[in-house]
This record gives sequence, C-alpha cells and structure tokens, in this order.
Amino acid sequence: MGGKFWGGRFKEETNTLVDQFNASIDFDRRLYEQDIKGSMAHCRMLGEKGILSEDETSTILEALAEVKRELDHNELPVDEEYEDIHTLVEKTLIEKIGPLGEKLHTGRSRNDQVALDVRMYVRDCIQRTLQRIKDMQESLVNLAEKNQDVVLPGYTHMQRAQPVLLAHHLLAYFEMLRRDSARFRDTLLRTNVMPLGSAALAGSTFALDRDMVARELAFDEVSRNSMDAVSDRDFILDFLFSASVLMMHLSRLSEELILWSSQEFGFASISDAFCTGSSIMPQKKNPDIPELIRGKTGRVYGDLMALLTTMKGLPLSYNKDMQEDKEVLFDAADTIEACLTIMASLLKSVSFDRERMASAIQSGFLEATDLADYLVRKGLPFRQAHEVVGKMVLFALQEKKEMRDLSLEQMKGFSRQIEEDVYEWLDPASCVKRRELPGGTGPEQVKERIAEARKELKK
Ligand code: ARG
Repeated sequence: MGGKFWGGRFKEETNTLVDQFNASIDFDRRLYEQDIKGSMAHCRMLGEKGILSEDETSTILEALAEVKRELDHNELPVDEEYEDIHTLVEKTLIEKIGPLGEKLHTGRSRNDQVALDVRMYVRDCIQRTLQRIKDMQESLVNLAEKNQDVVLPGYTHMQRAQPVLLAHHLLAYFEMLRRDSARFRDTLLRTNVMPLGSAALAGSTFALDRDMVARELAFDEVSRNSMDAVSDRDFILDFLFSASVLMMHLSRLSEELILWSSQEFGFASISDAFCTGSSIMPQKKNPDIPELIRGKTGRVYGDLMALLTTMKGLPLSYNKDMQEDKEVLFDAADTIEACLTIMASLLKSVSFDRERMASAIQSGFLEATDLADYLVRKGLPFRQAHEVVGKMVLFALQEKKEMRDLSLEQMKGFSRQIEEDVYEWLDPASCVKRRELPGGTGPEQVKERIAEARKELKK
C-alpha cells in the first residue's frame, strides 16, 4: 500500500534515506484524533456545500470513524511508509472505500490541515494544564491553611530579613500559578483560530464554508490571511513561553523545598514516598523529585529557544522546517503535565518543622525594621531611625546578643525615645501581626487570602 500522494511529477523512486528523514509519522501520530476530527468536519462541510453528495459524505464519515477506532486500538501499522499522520489517515480511508476516499482532500492541503491539528492539540493541552495548575494550587492552599500560625524567617539575598507567615510564603506560589493560568488562557485566545480553508497558502477555488467548520470544531474565529494561517506558529511559541514561565515557578519552589529539607535549614521534610536513597551512603534521603523538576525546566526553555530559532529565518509561507514544531511542543506538554502532577502530590506529603522555624526567627535581627518603625512612631524621621537601629545591631553583634537581650538602659543609649514597650515590638510574632494591610503577611490578611483562593478554585 505504498505510493505517494505526490508521486505524479517524479520519475525516480525516493531515496530510502529521504523517506526516513522526511517522515514525521513517528511523532505526529499523536495528532490522529485531532486529524480525524478535522477531516470529519471538512467532509461534512463539503457535503453541505454539495461538493460531496449525501451518500459520499456519510460513507467517508463512517470510514473515518473506523480508522479512528483502529488507531485507538493500535491496529494500524504506523511506519515511515506513511510520511505523516495525515497521509496515514487518508491512505487508510482510501484503502477502505476506494476512490471515493480520494475526494476528501478537496479544497485542503496538508499545510492548513497540520495547522488545524496542532491548534486543536494545543487547545486540549491548555485545558488539561489549567486543571493541573488548579490541582497544584489546591495543594498549596491546603498546606497554607494547615500551617496558618507558623512563622518563619523571610529572606532577601538569602539573608534573614523579616518574619513572615509560612502560609504567606506558600501563597506566593499560588499567585505565580494564578498568573500562569492567565497566561495559558490568553494563549488559548490566539490558538483558537481556525486555519482550514487556507489550503496550501492562497486559499481555495471552492466556496468552502469556513465558518461552518469553525463552529463544528468549536473555534472562536477563522483565520484572516491564508498565507499567515499556514505559516503561523506563534500560538505554539505562546504555549512554550507560558510553559517556560510555569516551569520557572515550579523550579523556584523545588529549589526552596530542596534547601528547606537540607540539614542546614531543616524547615521541611518531604515524605519518604517522594524521596530516594543512595546506593552507597546508607543514611541518605534525597529530594530527587524537586531536583528533576528544576532540571527539566532547562529542557522546556530549550524547547522554546529551539522553535524561536527555527522560525526566525522562514520566508512565507509554509516551509518544512516547521515540522520541527511538534517534538518540542510534545516534549514541553508532557513535561509540564508530569511536573504539575507530581508536584501537586508531593506537596501533600510535605511536613514542616515548627520548632526549627520557631528557633530560626529568634536570631538574625528579623525585627530590626520594626524597631525602626517603632522609632518613627516616637517621632524620628525614618532615615534617622534606620541609622539608630543599624548602630544597635552593630553593638548587639559585638556583644554576641540578640536585640531583645539588650537592657533598656543600653537601648536608651542609642535613642532616648526607646521605652519599656519596645520589648513587645521585638517579638517576631507581633512583627507579623502588625502587617495587616492588603497583601501583607498579617494573619487576618492571610486568612482572607486563603478564603479568596478557595473561592477562586471553586470557579
Ligand atoms: N508533516 C508535515 C508537518 O508537520 C505536514 C505538512 C506537510 N506539508 C507539506 N507541504 N509537505 O509540517
């Protein structure tokens, strides 16, 4: 059942190396459902326009459904003989119903066909990704809720900075994922444009009903320029960029989990079920999963860079270079799906060491900013207050003491405005409580954010 759809103008057989090199069937077979769905919509439209008769239309539709069933059950030989998934589906169709099958490609090219298939594929991916992001957000909110009263050091430059609620820290990732969702939804808008009818590049001589195809395949609009439509891969780049930013977020969370589960930090522990050991060091429990997520971030960035680079020199309209869009797309789609899924589960298994965190907030002068704010309330301009507290920190460091260990007399040596009530100000838990402004780490604020997050997830 060999033979090419484009053999007519050739005198020589294709070199076997070319068959192998040129074929995309190995990877684009993944598009078979989209390809058949698209072909069915095209066929119905040809029927509606009288280009195919009613009988012809229903025979083709039935045969296409059978091809789909056979592909569902892996019953078709999928090999290089077929070049790509479009060829495989069409040839199988022709094998089933003879020359009638040869009418399906009327008014269509593989160029608009592949654009359609990939758009439908990306659309499905985005829907799945949005759900997975939600699952992970839910894990984060659950963790935040369970640990609402835990305070830990917040860091800048990896140096202890100010005390924050653990829930606040966790919900920062909820926000990142929220933007990721928005980015994917935005990508969906530009993906959901129907290219069929563009044919090879110039449109078709048949009066195809493009709106009908769009309606049937649930596209919001039809493409406005046939040359752009067969050579636009921006929506894949949008997807890859959204995937890259998402991975960057997962990677940052992974990095924190790795740090926090180190003996040096000891803030968190990932359950045994999500860790691995060493073949030589018996004591080891390693955070391989977050490490792998961090590592896989690189390959998703690579997928984006690869396609950006592939596209940059291409003249209009379709060029075979663009066949390279699929492997990077599939790779990124598989990677984000796997990473989101495992991260959502892993998060459920994370426990926090409250004591380690409680003792960590006792040192590192986390309350220094609050002390400066205290002095501002007593009338000092902020810059002076900053200077005074800086000197106090220096003094405490020299004395090997924490701020709260200084006597009131010692403190007054730096500023007469300091009074007995200062000690209450220096308590890390009260530092957190003072930040009840929108977006702050105050417990009431964070509680509200948890409630809002829950509401958002229900939508
Ligand atoms: N396998 C091809 C691709 O993925 C399908 C389109 C082929 N079009 C063509 N004119 N050779 O891009």
